[in-house]
Parts: sequence; C-alpha cells; structure tokens
Amino acid sequence: MKQYKVMWLFVVLAACVLVLQFHASSTWVAGPPQQAAQDAAPDSGQPALRELAARLARELAGACRDAQTTTAASPAEPRLYVITPTYRRPEQIPELTRLAQTLMHVRNLHWLVVEDAANKTRLVTQLLRKTRLSFDHLLAPMPDVYKTRRGPKPRGVSNRNCGLEWIRANATSGVVYFADDDNTYDIELFEEMRWTTRVSMWPVGLCTKFGLSTPIVIDSKFAGFYDGWVAGRKFPVDMAGFAVSVQFLLQRPNAKMPYKPGFEEDGFLKSLAPFEPSQIELKANNCSKVLVWHTQTKKNDPSAALNMTKYANTNLVHLKKLIV
Ligand code: UGA
Ligand code: MN
Repeated sequence: MKQYKVMWLFVVLAACVLVLQFHASSTWVAGPPQQAAQDAAPDSGQPALRELAARLARELAGACRDAQTTTAASPAEPRLYVITPTYRRPEQIPELTRLAQTLMHVRNLHWLVVEDAANKTRLVTQLLRKTRLSFDHLLAPMPDVYKTRRGPKPRGVSNRNCGLEWIRANATSGVVYFADDDNTYDIELFEEMRWTTRVSMWPVGLCTKFGLSTPIVIDSKFAGFYDGWVAGRKFPVDMAGFAVSVQFLLQRPNAKMPYKPGFEEDGFLKSLAPFEPSQIELKANNCSKVLVWHTQTKKNDPSAALNMTKYANTNLVHLKKLIV
C-alpha cells in the first residue's frame, strides 16, 4: 500500500516537472529571436520558474531515496553479514575496491572488514567510507605462533573468528557469509543466501583440480560432495560455498573456525553440530548455477622506492602513498 502511494507521488511530481519544463521552454522559444538566444544562456531565463522546477526535481529525487530506504529497511528481509578477511599487500586496495563495488549493489547488507594487522590501514578506512555501505572495520592479527610457523598458514582465521564474535555481540537474526577479498561474486548469490534458515550451499567455480566444488544433487536431494581435495573432510567445501543463519549460529555458542590450514571450512561446519550434510539447504537452483568463483590475483612485488632527488616536487610523491 505504501509503495503504491509512493508510485503515485512519483507520477504526479514527474508530470508537474514536465508541465513546468514545457511551459518554460515554450516561453523561451516564443520570445523574439534575440531574447530567445539570451534566455538559452545558462545564467539567464526565468529564475522563479527554474527554481520551482529545480525544487520539484529535488523533491522527486528525495521521494526516490525514501522509496529505496523503505525497501532496504523491510523487516521481512533478512540482513546479510558479510565477513571479509584482508591484509596489507599490493593487491589489497584493488581487491577491496572490486568487492566493495559488488556489495554496493546488494540491499540490507552489513560488511565486516577484518584486517590481519595491528593497525587499521588508512586507505582501507577511506575506501570503506567512500562506498557508503553499512560496515565495521575490525582488526584481528594472526597470532604470532602461526605467523612465525613454517609451512602453510591459517589464512584469514583470526579475522573470521573476530567477525563471528562481532555477530554474537551485535546481531540477532540474518545470515552470515565469509567472502574472501579476492573472489568474484555474482550479486545474485546474495539473494540466494538471504533466505538461509540453517546452512545453505551452492557451487564454487575455479576451485581445486576439478574446477568446481559443489554439493552433488540427485532429484533435488543432497547426494554427496564434488571437490578435488576431499582429504577425509566431512564437509569438503570451499569457504565461498556456504552461508549460515545467524540464529542457527547463536544457538551454537562454541562454533568457530580452527587454525588448521586446509581444514578451516570443515572444522567450522563441524563445530555447528548438531548439523549433518543431509540438512544442507541447496541454493542456486539446486546447485545448477555458478555464482561465485575462487579467483586468485597474481602476486605483485612491493614497488621500488621513489627516487626523491629526481621526483621530490612531482605527483609521484603522493601517488606512492597510495600503493604498496
Ligand atoms: C583458501 C580458502 O578460500 C581460504 O578461506 C582459506 O583460509 C585458505 O585457502 C587457506 O586454507 O589457507 P586462498 O585463496 O588459498 O584461500 O587464500 P587467500 O585468498 O590468500 O586468503 C584467504 C583470505 O584470508 C583472504 O581474504 C585474504 O585477504 C585473507 N588473508 C590471507 C589474511 O587475512 N591474512 C593472510 O596472511 C593471508
Ligand atoms: Mn583467495
């Protein structure tokens, strides 16, 4: 009913703007040629009429914004909490720019950007503000014991557990999703996961030697997992391939991610017990669509130092502060 009224307001206001514009333009054209030419100049014309048209246009824009907010605030629509681990490196800002500009297309979303760092990176803070997304910028450095250990590291685990703690402290409903900063997400994915009641899953492309990690589906029912690296895991899935209901998570106060490289997803999903693979909610049209890809960006070396003797008074000094 409310939306219906807003629609009518649009139509009426749009009609007013059109009538005024028509009136204004015919007045200008109807005048003597010299006068018409003068009136066509940007700072001439009929100020009162223009101001009225401008005010109507502003009000129309305001009504559009209100209508969007109404949709965003709809209580029926579960909120999405997207947890993104990130860390300082040459690719960080480009990766986060791409992900941010994907998330900017998604309604009712709160972005938890958790840096594996001791201090917040200024450029990350600036990027987050610029997006005008609802967000929290958190810090969760990888514990030294793992950082200094030889061999594979538990990447993004302290960050994701920090995000989970934030959710336990601040959310009561909605859906939580772990979105690494370097993957590629179709915005349709977020509407698929929005209605998760326990744990939902879907295919992830560009993943393992099979090029794919996904639940296997027969006659619309879960029938196992397809993943190039099973390694005895109960849930051989990719981090990008599942979402969890916040209520379901809150009912499991001990659920968290283990510091176990390669077994982070499995460990976390097992910590959601009681929860069995047969209870998985299959999304993306019975797992028949690929809506997320485990893309990996080429690693870049940090840039060479700037020759200050040569470039001290140039734009390069500022630009160097924007890159690693
Ligand atoms: C894969 C999985 O998708 C990760 O979720 C898992 O943590 C990782 O393997 C693992 O098992 O170690 P992969 O693409 O190989 O991910 O790893 P990255 O993309 O390098 O890192 C995953 C996330 O953690 C990224 O969002 C990245 O920014 C973050 N990260 C990585 C840190 O916060 N700190 C690090 O030192 C490294
Ligand atoms: Mn990655």
